[in-house]
Amino acid sequence: MRNLTLADGTTVPVIGQGTWHMGEDPTARSREVAALRLGIELGMTLIDTAEMYAEGGAEEVVGEAIAGRRDEVFLVSKVYPHNASRQGVAQACERSLRRLGTDCLDLYLLHWRGQYPLAETVEAFERLKAEGKIRRWGVSNFDLDDMQELAEPACATNQVLYNPEERGIEFDLLPWCQAQRIPVMAYCPLGQGGDLLRHPAVVEVARRLEAEPAQVVLAWALRLPGVIVIPKAARAEHLRANAGAAELRLGDDDLAVLDQAFPPPRRAQPLQMV
Ligand SMILES: NC(=O)c1ccc[n+]([C@@H]2O[C@H](COP(=O)([O-])OP(=O)(O)OC[C@H]3O[C@@H](n4cnc5c(N)ncnc54)[C@H](OP(=O)(O)O)[C@@H]3O)[C@@H](O)[C@H]2O)c1
Repeated sequence: MRNLTLADGTTVPVIGQGTWHMGEDPTARSREVAALRLGIELGMTLIDTAEMYAEGGAEEVVGEAIAGRRDEVFLVSKVYPHNASRQGVAQACERSLRRLGTDCLDLYLLHWRGQYPLAETVEAFERLKAEGKIRRWGVSNFDLDDMQELAEPACATNQVLYNPEERGIEFDLLPWCQAQRIPVMAYCPLGQGGDLLRHPAVVEVARRLEAEPAQVVLAWALRLPGVIVIPKAARAEHLRANAGAAELRLGDDDLAVLDQAFPPPRRAQPLQMV
């Protein structure tokens, strides 16, 4: 697995695991737990979850998957904007820690910007850090103007939508984050497993490189410095393919085929969200 080094010197894998939609179906639970454990064994030790996912259900699945191996994972969770007040953050964090069966998160994110002043949420995050309940904090779905307004060197990541179909961040947000040394965590890197993976350009590059379409798409996002991808996978063959993407390098010809099919942005675009 390839790693990225955070500002504080901690290394994290560039390919992690998403958990959206986990914990929604009780009959799928043991399969989801097994998937996350396999992903950890394959080196995808960064796990991304949120209080929103299955209203805590995904955090419980993660808690079961990491029981007895907390030290092996870099755990990321997110607070709802409506809980992002001084008191609300502290209470939401306690609930997340309980569901995850741990006493500390590696990274706690504001899921998207809401009604509370950023300064209040940041103060609450900093208090959690001082109490040892989170190691660092960051944001999600913040566009360039939000990041500039936040202007916080302590912000450890911005988690945003990024895949070949959604390249808007390449114009301004991504270069800005790279200049500030804030890693960008790409969500829905596989386009939620939809048409992107069947697109003729992706299929053509995959055939040329004797790789899976998902690997092409992940390697494409990872061509840029300061990017982490968090694909979600419940199937073993998907997990193995995703982990293998760390070794895949796209050549100039491959990138040209993808640029032709998914042109890079020529002007600023509002950040898209899923
Ligand atoms: N911050 C935010 O607002 C935000 C928003 C959306 C998502 N996220 C995070 O980002 C994570 C990833 O996004 P996502 O789950 O929406 O979408 P995604 O990772 O782009 O796609 C997941 C889908 O792709 C399939 N898949 C996985 N690996 C594959 C492979 N190798 N080949 C073919 N299909 C494959 C999965 O199937 P199986 O599950 O059947 O294997 C699943 O249906 C989320 O789980 C969540 O943690 C954050």
